[in-house]
Amino acid sequence: MTDPITLPMLLSKKVCGEKIAMATCYDFSTAKLVDRSEIDAILVGDSLGMTMLGYENTLPVTIEDMITFGRSVVRGAPNTFVMVDMPFMSYQVSVELALTNAGRLMKETGCHCVKLEGGQSVADRIRAIVDCGIPVCAHIGMTPQSVNVYGGFKVQGRGEANAKRILEDALAVEEAGANLVVLECIPPKLAGLITKSLSIPTIGIGAGPDCDGQILVSQDLLGMNDGFAPKIMKRFADVGTVITEALNAYTTEVREATFPTVANSFPKSDCDDTFLKQLEDQVRAQRS
Ligand code: KIV
Repeated sequence: MTDPITLPMLLSKKVCGEKIAMATCYDFSTAKLVDRSEIDAILVGDSLGMTMLGYENTLPVTIEDMITFGRSVVRGAPNTFVMVDMPFMSYQVSVELALTNAGRLMKETGCHCVKLEGGQSVADRIRAIVDCGIPVCAHIGMTPQSVNVYGGFKVQGRGEANAKRILEDALAVEEAGANLVVLECIPPKLAGLITKSLSIPTIGIGAGPDCDGQILVSQDLLGMNDGFAPKIMKRFADVGTVITEALNAYTTEVREATFPTVANSFPKSDCDDTFLKQLEDQVRAQRS
């Protein structure tokens, strides 16, 4: 049994040059598996809008959705650092709303950190949340809640002006007190420069190898996403095929009546045959 992973432990990994491994997770059963693994931290991402709820993007996800999924993960992974995403429009409107919702996420899920998207534009929200004792992970570069501005999930930070803006976002979130920052879909040298320039850990997704840590969506890394294969991901298992094969094997046994067997039932609890025969006769008499 190892000690539960804490924020100071994650921060010290940057100092020691040890990489941080993160994955998304959205439910109790999977959280138990993640907790048994060597993963350092879980993100209950608003990507659950796509992976769990079947939406096209993260925009319809609500604070209640994040609380329901977040608390199930926290219950399943008592030894893992858990951060929960602030969904679209739960922090953009005002500092007050951001504080209220960050507080709800922490009080009602038991998570250890909240994550929100944006750089300079949300620095005041980050400062206010951190000042209340709630750790914050910022998220810059390609921020999926702005999908309609980009016209799709597209790499950001191309060209000098965009690269400079993203570096400024990184410096602004650190200055505002963010404890970690996700860098999504930005060119690798820019991610390397940001990682060198910050004292807080950078967690990359589609941002090259030089970040302090990496995160992937668990459905993508486990092969449970029906062939979805963006360039930024790598599949480490084919769990989707394992699940389909198991369901087919079960269906075959049900159809052939080879499952359940005596071993899967409770024959010792049955009434004796004479009594059952009497019941059968009664039913037949009532029906005739
Ligand atoms: O919602 C999410 O899963 C994320 C990660 C991809 C970083 O924000």
